[in-house]
Amino acid sequence: MSKSVSVPALRAKSVDELSEAEARGEHATLDDEIAEHDLRYHQEDRPTISDADYDKLRRRFEEIEARFPALAGEGSRSRRVGAPPSEKFAKIRHRVPMLSLGNAFADEEVLEFVARVRRFLDLDAESTPAFTAEPKIDGLSCAIRYERGKLTRAATRGDGEVGEDVTANVRTIRAIPEKLNGDVPEVLEVRGEVYLRHADFARINERQAERGKQIFANPRNAAAGSLRQLDPAVTARRPLQFFAYSWGEVSALPATTQAGVVEAFARLGLPTNKMMRLCRTPEEMLDQYRVIEAQRSSLGYDIDGVVYKVDDLALQRRLGFVSRSPRWALAHKFPAEKATTIIEAIEIQVGRTGSLTPVAKLRPVTVGGVVVSNATLHNEDEIQRKDIRIGDTVTVQRAGDVIPQVLGFIEAKRPNAAVPYEFPKLCPACGSHAVREINPRSGKEDVVRRCTGGLICPAQAVERLRHFVSRNAFDIEGLGAERIELFYKEGLIARPQDIFTLEDRDRRSSHRLMEREGFGETSARNLFAAIAERREIPLNRFIYALGIRHVGEATAKELARHFGSAQALQQTAMAAQDQTSESWSDLTSIEGIGEVVAEALVDFFAEPHNCEIVEELLKQVEVLALEAAAESSAVSGKTIVFTGSLEKITREEAKAMAERLGAKVAGSVSKKTDLVVAGASAGSKLAKARELGIETIDEDAWLKLAQGSE
Ligand code: IVH
Repeated sequence: MSKSVSVPALRAKSVDELSEAEARGEHATLDDEIAEHDLRYHQEDRPTISDADYDKLRRRFEEIEARFPALAGEGSRSRRVGAPPSEKFAKIRHRVPMLSLGNAFADEEVLEFVARVRRFLDLDAESTPAFTAEPKIDGLSCAIRYERGKLTRAATRGDGEVGEDVTANVRTIRAIPEKLNGDVPEVLEVRGEVYLRHADFARINERQAERGKQIFANPRNAAAGSLRQLDPAVTARRPLQFFAYSWGEVSALPATTQAGVVEAFARLGLPTNKMMRLCRTPEEMLDQYRVIEAQRSSLGYDIDGVVYKVDDLALQRRLGFVSRSPRWALAHKFPAEKATTIIEAIEIQVGRTGSLTPVAKLRPVTVGGVVVSNATLHNEDEIQRKDIRIGDTVTVQRAGDVIPQVLGFIEAKRPNAAVPYEFPKLCPACGSHAVREINPRSGKEDVVRRCTGGLICPAQAVERLRHFVSRNAFDIEGLGAERIELFYKEGLIARPQDIFTLEDRDRRSSHRLMEREGFGETSARNLFAAIAERREIPLNRFIYALGIRHVGEATAKELARHFGSAQALQQTAMAAQDQTSESWSDLTSIEGIGEVVAEALVDFFAEPHNCEIVEELLKQVEVLALEAAAESSAVSGKTIVFTGSLEKITREEAKAMAERLGAKVAGSVSKKTDLVVAGASAGSKLAKARELGIETIDEDAWLKLAQGSE
């Protein structure tokens, strides 16, 4: 079964290249798409895309949020797991949320994960903590609670917070003991995967077909459909299996390591997977991945990857969680699927810095369950290296992220008329020359061809304006991507400085904003107020907003710290054209600023239209010193109180985090308290904080704040 989800051309761009506006649009679309798929998968047990494709959507979504944290608001999907429980079942709130796992597709990402763990724990490069590696079972997760060794309750994952009560159904599963053996803890919530073997799946489908009932698309859906039955007698007829691999609430853990607890599970009579290995090095982890992958087809049940977990539970506790997944675990997925199709055209997209990106327009093809019609060709050299031509039949792959890639063409199918692709030398948006610069460091041609039109180029102008008003730049509320585009088209805003004269011009205009469709008096007034609010701006944001190549937020801060004013930066960059000058040495001597950035600054200020933008802007806005928060953490020196129950991190971890950021943690709220972090069911301390007018935030906001500051 496949669903045609048109992958917008935007996804042909890497997340790094998205403007804030593009990211916001794509974020919203992805959010809807994912919600739809979640519902089909979790509630209807009838997914319409493959897991690999779902993972890609999700990963792309998370990458966008990682780059634009503002999008990861309160209700963001990245903080949710699955779909809300179905109304058909009674609900069970998980005492410990059931979270998800971060994904990796390539070996390097696994190495990066290990490095991340090491960094987080402050271990040196030689000492790798031990990791378990085990199959990732493709079923549905289930939490089974035992009290004094007796099964009392079972729940599906649901949305991670609240699951469905499937106790009666789980009691019919023979693989799950009603009573545990031996030395049982008072409370033990076992978590694991309910799944079906291939042979049983085939039999179920045969029976379904005979009776003219629904055929399941794969074993996982059949397992889910079997467990989520209102009539437990139906579940009883389906030979569901179970592997225990994790736990929720436990009164006393039977071991201090992941492997130890799973071994204890086996002793208690729970089924566990025999392929779990303890790995001492990243090489051993990757070896075990290959061992499991090699056995994949002969296991008799579906697995879709390998899960690595830090073995030492004390380290797991220290690592904690980030949004919906533990920092101490990773799912290393098996590779994505491929398909062949025809390239019907090659389109060129123009980015903010004028970069020309080629996108293959494909005859729509299903790759792993999703219809794709665009694929990235990366750049000019890639097209040439692979000798990709319009009309070619090509292999496309949807790998680690959602952007499909063209792997290569099939020689036997090349039409006689196909000619080598000639990359345009003129910008398709404005007709200016598009050139490949020489990298001063390597002396080599840049792989990216860029439009030289600057702000004459409408594609660049709009992208630059969007960047200018984006969250980490001028952050003008009410001036989003769509409005920028509209104002640009209508000639109301062509350059950044025009934003600040908009209100004045509007007052004198006969066609006032508030009289237009889509605008009311309030929205026009709000927009002008939001603009007015940004007439004061910290220098680092001002520099970042200019959209100078290679000048990201961190570099903008360095420049702001060094120069102290926009004028000083401009003067030095203008005088630094001569690379033997003192100004050039001054620029390149700044910490974190190499020749590439220096060159970009020189180029930017060599353009009169850029100097004009800066000069005109300076007439409109007051540039303040560097943002204070940029220097140290947002909470350093502050006194924080944690109250209520935290769900994603322990109190211990929260306290450690706060202290790491230079804050003090207090036990009670007083006038000296600066910030109260209120978890679920916070009571009197929260009330007192409100009474005293102290800032209060929830757990997610705290995590975001802390992570942003680390
Ligand atoms: S550990 C805190 N181990 O994969 C997360 N999960 O994509 C603990 N899964 O929700 C999960 N096999 O349903 C873990 N060996 C395994 C697994 C496994 C399958 C599922 C599980 C989880 C999902 C995350």
